[in-house]
Amino acid sequence: MFQDFDFQQLYSPDFKEDSVREVLILPIIHRLGYKNAQVVRSKSLQHPFLKIGSKKRPVNLVPDYLFKIEDSYAWVLDAKSPTETITSGDNLEQIFSYAIHPEVRTKFFSLCNGKEFILFRQDEKQPILYFQLQDIENYWDEIVAYLSPNSFQSGKNFTYTSVKKARAKSEVFDYVTRPLLEELPVYKQSAKRHCGVHGYFTKQVWNVVQEYIRNFSQVGDIVLDPFGGSGVTAIEALMTDRKSIHIDLNPMSVFMVNSLIAPVDFDNLHQAFTEIKAEYLANEPKSDIEVSKALKNIPIPKIYHCQKGQM
Ligand SMILES: C[S@@+](CC[C@H](N)C(=O)[O-])C[C@H]1O[C@@H](n2cnc3c(N)ncnc32)[C@H](O)[C@@H]1O
Repeated sequence: MFQDFDFQQLYSPDFKEDSVREVLILPIIHRLGYKNAQVVRSKSLQHPFLKIGSKKRPVNLVPDYLFKIEDSYAWVLDAKSPTETITSGDNLEQIFSYAIHPEVRTKFFSLCNGKEFILFRQDEKQPILYFQLQDIENYWDEIVAYLSPNSFQSGKNFTYTSVKKARAKSEVFDYVTRPLLEELPVYKQSAKRHCGVHGYFTKQVWNVVQEYIRNFSQVGDIVLDPFGGSGVTAIEALMTDRKSIHIDLNPMSVFMVNSLIAPVDFDNLHQAFTEIKAEYLANEPKSDIEVSKALKNIPIPKIYHCQKGQM
């Protein structure tokens, strides 16, 4: 669909939001079967605010794509640059605000940054579809079932046809004869990645490991690393929708990987943050004297004192 697009390009600073739209989103829209008249681009909202209770909240931007079925909008999609986060935060809030805007009112809202695609339905907290764009073929049946023009039934509220959950495996995937990959660029420091949080001595380059997993296995397969070390294989396997088995003689390695893959409990995290913040605010030094006093109680490495004294 993307005409042999090299996904490594997404790591180039020149590949921005407009490239994501032209090179990646456009082919998806065409393949889904939308006609030009059904795609409303950059619609200006007549009332550039949203009322939440009695409060007016400004909506500064306009949605990139609105998909129209008969006289209603069926879903909304915003493109982002590959460096932007689409699974949480401001971008997600923004697209949600479009979806609930009185001039839009779509049940489905989605974001795509070239690397990932995420789809939400207003009545579900969790995304109903999330995948790496590189793996789009594995999700195509589900994408069509949710988002193609035919999947929407017109009427007061849109519904969608039932989704075929099974991700059919390609029959022609021959594990033994997969080609070796060409040399890959190394993105050691270029992404906020699990491996950045520790310094386990055997750490390998995540993007290379990921490419090999993609090349030699299919979505849903089991990837085994019996000398798992830093956990890069296990984690990249999970990130690309495989199952993974991590084995290592060193308990530190197993502990690290268990911690890295543990689901985050956002309520607990929020509570812990609130407690730490409250503790800090209660003890925050307010004047220079209080700051010096506080610093005396903090064990700062001697070398730092030394360097500071010399300056
Ligand atoms: C080369 S490193 C693994 C590299 C790994 N892909 C990474 O990115 O970190 C080798 C790992 O194998 C583990 N190891 C060594 N001998 C082992 C054994 N007999 N059984 C299981 N793990 C072993 C070591 O503790 C070390 O973490």
